[in-house]
Amino acid sequence: MALSLQPKVCIAVLMILGIWASQTMSRLFIDENAITQKHEPWMAQHRRNYQDNAEKKRRFQIFMTNWEYIKNFNTNATNKTYQLSLNKFADLADEEFFATYTGYRVPSLPNANKTTPFRYAEQADDVPESIDWRKIKGAVTSVKDQKQCGCCWAFSAVGAVEGKICNGVSLSAQELVDSVSDNDGCDGGICQSGTLNNSAAQISGYEDVPSNDEEALKMAVANQPVSVAIDAHETSFKLYNSGVFNGDCGTQLTHAVTLVGYGTSTEDGSMYWLIKNSWGDNWGENGYMRLQRDVYAKEGLCGIARRASDPTVD
Ligand SMILES: *[C@@H]1O[C@H](CO)[C@@H](O)[C@H](O)[C@H]1NC(C)=O
Ligand SMILES: *[C@@H]1O[C@H](CO)[C@@H](O)[C@H](O)[C@H]1NC(C)=O
Ligand SMILES: *[C@@H]1O[C@H](CO)[C@@H](O)[C@H](O)[C@H]1NC(C)=O
Ligand SMILES: *[C@@H]1O[C@H](CO)[C@@H](O)[C@H](O)[C@H]1NC(C)=O
Repeated sequence: MALSLQPKVCIAVLMILGIWASQTMSRLFIDENAITQKHEPWMAQHRRNYQDNAEKKRRFQIFMTNWEYIKNFNTNATNKTYQLSLNKFADLADEEFFATYTGYRVPSLPNANKTTPFRYAEQADDVPESIDWRKIKGAVTSVKDQKQCGCCWAFSAVGAVEGKICNGVSLSAQELVDSVSDNDGCDGGICQSGTLNNSAAQISGYEDVPSNDEEALKMAVANQPVSVAIDAHETSFKLYNSGVFNGDCGTQLTHAVTLVGYGTSTEDGSMYWLIKNSWGDNWGENGYMRLQRDVYAKEGLCGIARRASDPTVD
């Protein structure tokens, strides 16, 4: 028998499809309206002036995608100890965000065959349960905003040096970008032996913290803020708002930040690293992120224990 539908069946099917389509359309319409009501005040809050309507429409679509991601996270994510929000990056797609706001490339010549021992190795027993260098006067200056220059490594290194010299002088990351020759300036990279010519400090070199060892990292951070590289290429990292981040990031190092402490969350008992970022003080917890510490993987969450270094200062 030929597969032909009776006209009546056809009409019934069409009607059902029609009802379904109109419901879907109206739901989409309502959703869009609800999101427009979020997008407009968000634009005002973050001073967005899109150049034309086409751009606004494009940004709105991305904003909506990010909002869907957050809604899905809020509804479906289990065992997450952090929250997301429609933060300052909510109208950026992942790829453009990664390209613009991260910028760490693993140096081509790693410090292989180093002979100097890890200088804090002796202090294993003296490591405090928690430390927050922000509470030590002058050790951590205000959160900077790298804006759209992929020089997070410079902010990361400067953050660590500020902690080392501990006099509250805010060093300029631009100076580091300008003065260090063996990095890629604003396009990622890291300085191995550059000197920062500043009246306050001179970086004479870097000492690597033993890799893939969160205990060693803890010893280093107990002594001074430390510059670390992490994987920040995650939507949940971009939209992070608060709490102890335990998202599903990888370990490809894509961003550099400064570790300014560690501790245990009073909200849920999660152990965390305290990260100072360079995306302004209106991202995360006033510019900071708490990232889960002591995870099963030896690289640490987001690869935080893979490549850490603390500057030595003359
Ligand atoms: C939660 O997950 C289910 C299954 O993947 C999905 O159908 C649903 O849309 C999700 N909820 C939200 C609010 O996104
Ligand atoms: C959530 O955490 C509990 C307790 O740690 C664990 O038993 C459970 O397997 C976790 N669920 C998921 C989906 O990871
Ligand atoms: C490190 O030392 C090993 C053994 O001495 C040698 O084979 C290797 O080439 C060295 N690596 C570098 C980068 O110098
Ligand atoms: C640093 O500054 C000193 C004196 O201000 C100058 O003599 C020296 O050449 C500078 N070094 C670099 C690397 O710019």
